[in-house]
Amino acid sequence: MARIRPMKFVHVVYGTRRFEQMVHWYQTVFDAKVQYQNPVLAFLTYDEEHHRFAFANLDVRKPGTNERDRRGLIGVDHVAYTYASLKDLLESYEDLRAQGVEPYCCVHHGMTVSMYYADPDGNQMEFQVDCFGSNEEANAFMASPHFAANPIGVEFDPDDWLARLRAGTAPSEFLMRQTHEPVSPIRGSFAN
Ligand SMILES: [Fe+2]
Repeated sequence: MARIRPMKFVHVVYGTRRFEQMVHWYQTVFDAKVQYQNPVLAFLTYDEEHHRFAFANLDVRKPGTNERDRRGLIGVDHVAYTYASLKDLLESYEDLRAQGVEPYCCVHHGMTVSMYYADPDGNQMEFQVDCFGSNEEANAFMASPHFAANPIGVEFDPDDWLARLRAGTAPSEFLMRQTHEPVSPIRGSFAN
């Protein structure tokens, strides 16, 4: 059987201790628009995708240092790729697991269902599927009280979902985030 591949590259997330400056820089350079921002997180886009960049404010998430330039937490947190369907995402999960590659975290963000992987160097990546059929709906969700109540997401069990999908549950049953609690922890890295 043919291997399932991601359909497209979609976004990059940075950890930063220059949160406001970073948001401003990406607004300036990419003519990007802020989709959502709170003191910890900001999501920006410059095209039809619901977010092309996100920034995690390390001064809030990991306070206690004035270190602003040491690479590590500062820098790329993860890059993200979108799959064509929930079935592709979950079938690929099973294919990869058979080859010894497993996600360290599975989160239903609301606008995406996401599985996080790390390569052998610890570079983190998100394999996701869009929850909404249009960017307008995704943008509306990011402006909704449900997103403001939980801009991180809710964890899910991919084995349970794959079994239910194969048993005939419609993908739409999974894609609409029904619950907005408990909030999944923000990961500093796959290691914690
Ligand atoms: Fe992401």
